[in-house]
Amino acid sequence: MEKNIIIDDTSKFMEQQKVIISENLEQVLTTAIAQCPHDKLFVLTDETTHRLCLPLISGFDCMAEAQSIIIGATDANKTLDSLSHVWSELQRMGATRHSLMVNLGGGMVTDLGGFAASTFKRGIPYINIPTTLLSMVDASVGGKTGINFGGLKNEIGVFNNADCVILDTVFLRTMDHENLLSGYAEMLKHGLISNDRMWAELLNFDFEKPGESRPLSTLIADSVAVKQRIVTEDPTEHGIRKALNLGHTVGHAFESLALERKPILHGFAVAYGLIPELYLCCAKTGFPTGKMRQTVSFIKNQYGSMSITCDDYPRLLELMHHDKKNRGNAINFTLLGDIGDIRINQTASEEDIKEALDFYREC
Ligand SMILES: NC(=O)c1ccc[n+]([C@@H]2O[C@H](COP(=O)([O-])OP(=O)(O)OC[C@H]3O[C@@H](n4cnc5c(N)ncnc54)[C@H](O)[C@@H]3O)[C@@H](O)[C@H]2O)c1
Ligand SMILES: [Zn+2]
Repeated sequence: MEKNIIIDDTSKFMEQQKVIISENLEQVLTTAIAQCPHDKLFVLTDETTHRLCLPLISGFDCMAEAQSIIIGATDANKTLDSLSHVWSELQRMGATRHSLMVNLGGGMVTDLGGFAASTFKRGIPYINIPTTLLSMVDASVGGKTGINFGGLKNEIGVFNNADCVILDTVFLRTMDHENLLSGYAEMLKHGLISNDRMWAELLNFDFEKPGESRPLSTLIADSVAVKQRIVTEDPTEHGIRKALNLGHTVGHAFESLALERKPILHGFAVAYGLIPELYLCCAKTGFPTGKMRQTVSFIKNQYGSMSITCDDYPRLLELMHHDKKNRGNAINFTLLGDIGDIRINQTASEEDIKEALDFYREC
């Protein structure tokens, strides 16, 4: 039986964006494509999703006319060169402003493809089919598109929603455990900013025996609904959307530090970043210590840790100061008073942050 749930398409900003949890990919994709009248159809993949994911949809009648564009895989290819390649291919294959693009891939493909579609001939419609857990629960929803530039992540881009986002866990079958865990960190963040039930379910999910917990697909549906609700309320990140930055102030600094040594996946950096940030929540906004300890122990069990020493503190603080979300000299945090009790626009002194990093090293 089909059970395709449309999560939300009510707000003005989101009125074009539907997020569909699909259990019948062919039917959902056929409908989504039919709802975007177009002259030509393009499908963007990276080299990996071209090999592993495109075969799952290329046999559908609705994809028969689709012309394929391929870019290199991983964030290293989220560049102006790849973007320029997509624009050139669209031009070469005769795309017009009435053409439609399907982005089939992880966050790199949905971010870059979304930006390519948003800018080609001042914007053509696009559909996102995220194929990694991270892109399902985070990157493909919410309208942020872009590329890395001048050594900085997501430096150039626009806010522009996909016409439709189709989530189907069939794609996750070929994903490695590390990339699954990376996406799961964003789900954990969504649980922390939502409610005790979601948080507890996420901590109890058994990666060894996924069949014994609530199915991952329903956890994904809950998780993407959290993101959808928040971005609908605050599409351009002036207020509550900052809740999604939980774990990311320190997380981004860890990610950048790791880049100077041995790169780690974004979600791992977020998971590690949650540890000092939850410590700050306890110290500054009264987050319950027991829940902090439970979350930290889950993270340490699943993600291990990235080792840092006190000698890294100055560099980490410097990186946190450079975060584009700061204003003036203060380092901006989103903290929690409890699970679901979001406190945006919090600041912490360098001493507080060092104490939180001490906790990270010692816990
Ligand atoms: N727009 C947003 O709001 C937002 C939010 C979070 C992250 N992002 C962006 O998302 C990107 C990270 O997303 P990601 O983790 O999906 O990275 P990714 O797209 O680089 O995918 C990770 C790797 O998995 C491969 N892959 C994709 N689908 C697969 C599948 N089904 N089976 C096997 N391998 C598969 C990819 O080819 C790649 O090698 C970053 O560029 C980040 O900036 C954007
Ligand atoms: Zn993130």
